[in-house]
Amino acid sequence: MTMACDLVIRGGTLVTPDGIGPGDVGARNGRIVAVGDLSRTDGGEIIDATGLHVLPGIIDTQVHFREPGNEHKEDLESGTRAAVMGGVTAVFEMPNTDPPTATPEALADKLDRAGGRAWSDYAFYTGATPENARSLGELEALPGCCGIKIFMGSSTGNLLVPDDASLRRVLENCRRRVAVHAEDEERLRDRERIASAAAHPRAHPEWRDVETAFGATRRLISLAEELHRRVHVLHVTTEEEAAWLADHKDVASVEATPQHLTLEAPECYDRLGAFAQMNPPVREARHRDGLWRAVANGVVDVIGSDHAPHTRDEKSRTYPNTPSGMPGVQTLLPVMLNHVNAGRLSLMRLIDLLCHGPNRLFGIVGKGRLAVGYDADFTLVDLSTSREITDDWIVSRCGWTPFAGMTVTGWPVGTIVRGRPAMREGQLVDGPSGRAMRFHEGAGP
Ligand code: DOR
Repeated sequence: MTMACDLVIRGGTLVTPDGIGPGDVGARNGRIVAVGDLSRTDGGEIIDATGLHVLPGIIDTQVHFREPGNEHKEDLESGTRAAVMGGVTAVFEMPNTDPPTATPEALADKLDRAGGRAWSDYAFYTGATPENARSLGELEALPGCCGIKIFMGSSTGNLLVPDDASLRRVLENCRRRVAVHAEDEERLRDRERIASAAAHPRAHPEWRDVETAFGATRRLISLAEELHRRVHVLHVTTEEEAAWLADHKDVASVEATPQHLTLEAPECYDRLGAFAQMNPPVREARHRDGLWRAVANGVVDVIGSDHAPHTRDEKSRTYPNTPSGMPGVQTLLPVMLNHVNAGRLSLMRLIDLLCHGPNRLFGIVGKGRLAVGYDADFTLVDLSTSREITDDWIVSRCGWTPFAGMTVTGWPVGTIVRGRPAMREGQLVDGPSGRAMRFHEGAGP
């Protein structure tokens, strides 16, 4: 086959909707134009992918990049740089910045700031508040917006939709799939003294206990069913929620994170202290096992990193005066590839969770599949390489990872965003060329 391409990736193992097998892929003007045997194609840049797997570009549907307001933790340049270093080609960024992304002006400001500075492609969530609930229909339709985010319980920042009346108003006014942090605000407040009395992050999953998460998830699902609205339940952490959500897939899509699938309490708190503290918390092994069952049986739709950087100094205070959250956008793929190598899920299922799932749930134009007509976003990985994850490798401004010291098998060695290499063999290439993603009209409901 002869085909005019400006980029050809040759000799790799492709992961396409048709399965996993040898092949070449050709791109022109940032789009995939051919998949198959392109050995006779000439012209353009050739990347030799012998010995490598060529994945569709990895999409991280949950990151917190802190700009504006807390750039000492991260900004849009450093966060997206961490993304491409970890093989991630596109991110959905969360609204709990300062000011929060809760108005058209705040969204326009973020899009402005990302222009020319982002290494990966990007879109921004708009945060729901009791005040902006009635205008969410217009906000969610703005270009560059991936959807609406609700915090039912307080976490980092001040976005909050704590009560059923406000939650109902938000869901009534949105057409797209609404992403929700489900922890019950009232129960959190009632139990806060557990954290203060313990003064150790080991108490974090006891303070923000199973019922804190499960109770909020039940309230959310019951409203979603009544209103016939689809909701995306972020970072599910309990065996109970995984089982409950399995019975409510008509309205609920489900996210799990690498942290909750990898770490376990109490060991992580004894080893990492507040560096393992996040909301909702990492819990005991039975919950981790329950989440893996939900990955295996299809209940989990996507894996997002919930990249939530805080500085070492902030994490070194005395609990509970420590902020919740850990970085993860750069380690998302290596940690999950290691699970593939350990036999916990197939490579095809991982691509379902990191590429096809985001595409299916959010209706991203041209992303999530290695197929003709889609964006030429590729993540090249070496599945046979073993490497230790170290703090030194982390380019996120916070400079640490909860996975430091873990040796993983499977490593990202190339990140290509719309036909332009952004990372090769662990080195950045060129400059930032990320753009705002587009979404199909009405996607998600
Ligand atoms: O642990 C968390 N950190 N959970 C959240 O919901 C927010 C995040 C952050 O932004 O720090």
